[in-house]
Amino acid sequence: MTLIGISGALFDFIDDPWKHVGREWEAARFEPDGLLVIEDGIIKDRGPRAALEPRYPGLEITHIKDRLIVPGFVDGHIHVPQTRVLGAYGEQLLPWLQKWVFPEEVKYKDPDYAQEGTRRFFDTLLASGTTTCQAFTTTHKVATETFFEEASRRNMRVIAGLTGIDRNAPDYYVDSAENFYRESAELIARWHRQGRNLYAITPRFAMGSSPEMMQRCEQLKKENPDCWVNTHISENPAEIRTLLSLHEDCSDYLGVYEKYGLVGPKFSGGHGVWLSNAEFSRMSQKGAAVVFCPCSNLFLGSGLFRLGRATDPSSRVKMSFGTDMGGGNRFSMLNVLEDAYKVGMCNNTLLDGSVNPALQDVSEAERNKLSAYRAFWSITLGGAEGLYIDDKIGNFEPGKEADFVALDWNGGPPATAWHQSIAFAGERPETMEEAANLLFGIMMVGDERAVDETWVMGQRLYKKSAA
Ligand code: GUN
Ligand code: ZN
Repeated sequence: MTLIGISGALFDFIDDPWKHVGREWEAARFEPDGLLVIEDGIIKDRGPRAALEPRYPGLEITHIKDRLIVPGFVDGHIHVPQTRVLGAYGEQLLPWLQKWVFPEEVKYKDPDYAQEGTRRFFDTLLASGTTTCQAFTTTHKVATETFFEEASRRNMRVIAGLTGIDRNAPDYYVDSAENFYRESAELIARWHRQGRNLYAITPRFAMGSSPEMMQRCEQLKKENPDCWVNTHISENPAEIRTLLSLHEDCSDYLGVYEKYGLVGPKFSGGHGVWLSNAEFSRMSQKGAAVVFCPCSNLFLGSGLFRLGRATDPSSRVKMSFGTDMGGGNRFSMLNVLEDAYKVGMCNNTLLDGSVNPALQDVSEAERNKLSAYRAFWSITLGGAEGLYIDDKIGNFEPGKEADFVALDWNGGPPATAWHQSIAFAGERPETMEEAANLLFGIMMVGDERAVDETWVMGQRLYKKSAA
């Protein structure tokens, strides 16, 4: 048994700030001089250091000074084999897949290439403060095995699965529905709930899945109801038109996944840019989640996700945030927050400067605004809720896995320290409001340079090197 302490300024969440309009701080907790007590990688206690420390005589404490300690970031939607196509020029989704993505992903059938790419992927993830991801791999079993092996080596909480596509991709890349079924079943037996690994049945997207492939996914979910389902939904107008022409019996995109019994708890659809109000409400009723990927939606020109609609209390959809790297051009969830904020702001205004008439009412406009509370909840506890793993991670509640990040508010572009010091009056944040001001500064001005240390299950796996 190992017992350790981490002292520093702790910031985490106990509730959804969208439920506390005008009083969002009620959803958060801030301990300017806090202590985390960690036993064998699990949080045993948290609170003010002065009150807790005497209860643990002889506790070995690591003091993390002048940092904000927040739960590890959750990336709800990311593509491991796109690590090298980050920032590919010039295309929207469908031509981008053909021109850049499939030629790179096919290289992952080579185990050495898969290993190099996957190692670089995890190292960059940890340097960005992301301790949990739900990931797409490729159609190759070896790429998925390599993913789980590398995640296990780092003891990270992850969700992933063999990523099936059997149409609308080049011949060298497509798999058969039969092979996808067999290999998915083998991978589930080998990896699901082994260590911190969780398995997601992963039809890449409905447009790339024949009816046979979708039936195989339905069969896999029936045979393995404990598994997750991860896919894309309603991302790009050309994609949606093509899909609905292939499923004339479905009136919308969600309907295709519903037809095959995939929509329910533990279902995530990435993007959802063009989801209708009716689709949001069906997802809400069924406990399904959407993953908001603003960097990608802007980079690929997919559109502006309706954050204020997804968070409407009458049809609140579970929601994680994701990079969608390489559709998104960044690995850092801080950049995701930056773009999410900008998407929310743009949603409230049309290009001619008038108020967007598609907004239902002023409350939708208010919900489009991404405060620091909403933002950091979304990439910690909220992200974990969207993935149905908030019993394991997401905040510093005793019993949860001790994944956290030490944010250095001075890490960033030149003049960052001077810039960020406007957030608080003294040497460091002392109040919840000062800490939230600082977090907003970090998400809008910072990036992974603000990530100083990343800890997984009570072990430090990343430390930024001195400049
Ligand atoms: N839809 C199907 N495949 C992909 C992908 O790799 N990235 C994105 N953004 N959308 C997809
Ligand atoms: Zn994606």
